[in-house]
Amino acid sequence: MYGIFLRICEKDLFLFFNWKGWISMGKLNVVGIGPGGLEHMTLRAKQVIEESDVIVGYTKYMAFVKPLIQGKELVSTGMRGEKERCAKALELAKDKVVSIISTGDAGIYGMAGLILEMKKDENIEIIPGVTASSSAASVLGSPLMHDNCNISLSDLMTPYDLIKKRVECAAEADFIISLYNPRSNGRPYYLKECIDIVKKYRKSNTPIGVVKNALREGQEINLFTLDTFLDEVVDMFSIVVIGNSQSFIKDGKFVTPRGYNI
Ligand SMILES: C[S@@+](CC[C@H](N)C(=O)[O-])C[C@H]1O[C@@H](n2cnc3c(N)ncnc32)[C@H](O)[C@@H]1O
Repeated sequence: MYGIFLRICEKDLFLFFNWKGWISMGKLNVVGIGPGGLEHMTLRAKQVIEESDVIVGYTKYMAFVKPLIQGKELVSTGMRGEKERCAKALELAKDKVVSIISTGDAGIYGMAGLILEMKKDENIEIIPGVTASSSAASVLGSPLMHDNCNISLSDLMTPYDLIKKRVECAAEADFIISLYNPRSNGRPYYLKECIDIVKKYRKSNTPIGVVKNALREGQEINLFTLDTFLDEVVDMFSIVVIGNSQSFIKDGKFVTPRGYNI
């Protein structure tokens, strides 16, 4: 795949030559739209969505970008339709400018990986977004100031034993841990079991922040310690941030020190 890029009348125009040597004006933007509020979307994300002919996404997420997609062709699918959604986006991108949207960052439990695995000769641009752990961190205080990791508790594509092993290794290595997909009706005990694993390595006053709908409508913030943690407040729209051995709560904010001498 090779191509040329033109800018005409303030609009990006891409001319690509596919493997047969034919000209194609199609393009697929894989867009991380951030946590939900338009003010937290990157300028590039907003620009490519506005320039797209077609928007592809999970029905619920289309609502987050509603003001930007009026009059465009919309292809929305339900929650488990990831492969169909990506196949459709790739097919449409052969001759149209298409954006497939993910919340947060498209490369963190989003659509970027699947698109690159399934692509043939389509022209792809991946546009980063503010991921849920960063959004949650900003409203909790500064919990991610030192080495940190993301672990998804979803076992749809990862065996639960491996998830628990990752939690154990991250806890032992003193990482701050952000738990994505922390609790659903189908696996109500995983979160509690993972918190029990962390308890083996952290003191009882280690902060835990739970943020539901970070930086979008319906935001809720709960601050606990390992000892006071209540998993009932957590659902699939929440992220759980567990501090490291140095984290503390100051004036209602979750702080992890970087290590400066003050
Ligand atoms: C499939 S993952 C998608 C992650 C997304 N690509 C990102 O980078 O934020 C879905 C999980 O992300 C977390 N999440 C996404 N947006 C969130 C938000 N605004 N507030 C809290 N958690 C969020 C939740 O844990 C949710 O179950």
